Amino acid sequence: MQITIRRATLADAETLSAISKQTFYDTFTGTCSPEDMALFLEAYFNLKQVKRELKNPSDFYYLAEQGGKAIGYLRLMEDYSNLPLMKKWKSLELKRIYVLKEFQGKGVAQQLMDYTMQYAKDNDYEVVWLGVWEHNGRAQKFYEKYGFEYSGHTHDFPIGNTPQTDRWLWKFLT
Ligand SMILES: CC(C)(COP(=O)(O)OP(=O)(O)OC[C@H]1O[C@@H](n2cnc3c(N)ncnc32)[C@H](O)[C@@H]1OP(=O)(O)O)[C@@H](O)C(=O)NCCC(=O)NCCS
Repeated sequence: MQITIRRATLADAETLSAISKQTFYDTFTGTCSPEDMALFLEAYFNLKQVKRELKNPSDFYYLAEQGGKAIGYLRLMEDYSNLPLMKKWKSLELKRIYVLKEFQGKGVAQQLMDYTMQYAKDNDYEVVWLGVWEHNGRAQKFYEKYGFEYSGHTHDFPIGNTPQTDRWLWKFLT
């Protein structure tokens, strides 16, 4: 499937806020209460927050587009705050990879992942790492295909009052 991938700018804030809410909702609805979901969507993907992130030159958002319409997105960042042990290496966190559900299973995610790995190589990263919900089987299978492995580390990723656990996966490039 033919798509374009480009870095998001401030002008994309509304699009990014909307697709972030939609994809997070579609992925995790039913795993927490509706109240928790509504609070989470507003807390993390509100327009002001998304604009703040887009204004940060170290925060890399990319949109996957087809015919000018956003159908998925990526968020990459060199950020060690969630797992300081990653400071041992030059590490790139794949903070998000989300594709609208009607475009899953069509190679869009693969193009976003290829883009990520190329970005990591071009910028001399030694490792790419990411967090995935322990029960998100589809995403885990997808990451496995790219050679990501469980690092042995987890972290709490509650959605409101609903406790959830994410696994940190990593892939070394050197
Ligand atoms: C994770 C994601 C980016 C993967 O993209 P995708 O286009 O779905 O990728 P694929 O179609 O290659 O699917 C990955 C694998 O999971 C399998 N799969 C499909 N549905 C599944 C399901 N319900 N449960 C488990 N595995 C499933 C596919 O068959 C495929 O494996 P295969 O190639 O061996 O057949 C995409 O599904 C997505 O955006 N999901 C919602 C957001 C999300 O979970 N993001 C990751 C957060 S950590």
